[in-house]
Amino acid sequence: MTVLQDRQGRTFPYLRLSVTDLCNFRCNYCLPDGCQDHHHGDALTLPEIRRLVTAFARLGTEKIRLTGGEPSLRRDFTDIIHTIKSVPGIRKVAVTTNGYKLPQRIDGWLDAGLDALNLSVDSLDPRTFQAITGHDRLQEILTGMQKAFERGLTGAKVNAVLMRGLNDGDLDRYLDWIKVQPVSVRFIELMETGDHREFFQQHHVSGTVIREQLVARGWTEVIRLADAGPAQEFCHPDYQGRIGLIMPYSPDFCRQCNRLRVSATGQLQLCLFADGGYDLRPLLQSDDDLEALVADIRRQLNFKQDGHFLEHGYTGTTRQLAQIGG
Ligand code: GTP
Ligand code: 5AD
Ligand code: SF4
Repeated sequence: MTVLQDRQGRTFPYLRLSVTDLCNFRCNYCLPDGCQDHHHGDALTLPEIRRLVTAFARLGTEKIRLTGGEPSLRRDFTDIIHTIKSVPGIRKVAVTTNGYKLPQRIDGWLDAGLDALNLSVDSLDPRTFQAITGHDRLQEILTGMQKAFERGLTGAKVNAVLMRGLNDGDLDRYLDWIKVQPVSVRFIELMETGDHREFFQQHHVSGTVIREQLVARGWTEVIRLADAGPAQEFCHPDYQGRIGLIMPYSPDFCRQCNRLRVSATGQLQLCLFADGGYDLRPLLQSDDDLEALVADIRRQLNFKQDGHFLEHGYTGTTRQLAQIGG
């Protein structure tokens, strides 16, 4: 097996697979008006997912992160976890979720083989949380996370999209929280998408603002490993948790890119902000097409660009990140 590698020498042991572009939340930075024009019905079926993941595993993929929309809206979500975890070569199955019904679902997911959990918690203040997401489920989500810890899950991450005038003053609340919670809270810079230029202008704030506050309070940057994710992490001896900053507008953000994406309908996306996608679905219909699928994916990698060009206002065809799984 030769591992997937692009022209810049980047390797891709990690696939983000969206299993639906439907979402039941209405985060103001993502889907304020909902997603009426999308249907679960078009999403990849369980056999298609199994073939897709088998092909990626042949190409050296070891980790699959399930995304959406909200992935757990799929009724067969637990089966998806189990099926993927059973594919030879796949070592880690992770999910990024809004935590809806987490207390009821987490046991089933862990039993099916889930290894890692990233949760969107855009504020720890219930009113701000509701203002951003359109839902008042903060307490339920945190209870679900606690339950996951009690079951022995480690390395949980919490995502908060950093927005001027909304949650950019929330650092202290998160710091109080991670004094005793062993989680990594990541502030993600708002990214401009096709649907959201005005919102971006109003609310984008650079992660360097948080970085300065952290450094002033004695937090130090953790040395990044070669296979680390997109976050720059900070730690402090008095805190159990960490703070991460995801700053896609900073130079070199894409240099360590280690991930590919497949949309809910089977389009291979070489970047979060690329044009179009390459339809893998025709080759997902039969186990007999596995070799052709593997060759096709490998060929497509020649077209991966150096970076996203977001700093030039370029959003590719991405209207909102629910379309492609963030
Ligand atoms: P893990 O290393 O698997 O934990 O990945 P992660 O931290 O990237 O996972 P998560 O799904 O929690 O991603 C958080 C957010 O980071 C995403 O929703 C995106 O907003 C952002 N992000 C992740 N990967 C990329 C990327 O390749 N490019 C850009 N621009 N943003 C990304
Ligand atoms: N900018 C940054 N992150 C976004 N997400 C969705 N839309 C945006 C955006 N415009 C990310 C958040 C959320 C995840 C599901 O998608 O990280 O937690
Ligand atoms: Fe749904 Fe995630 Fe978008 Fe919020 S950010 S609306 S939870 S897909």
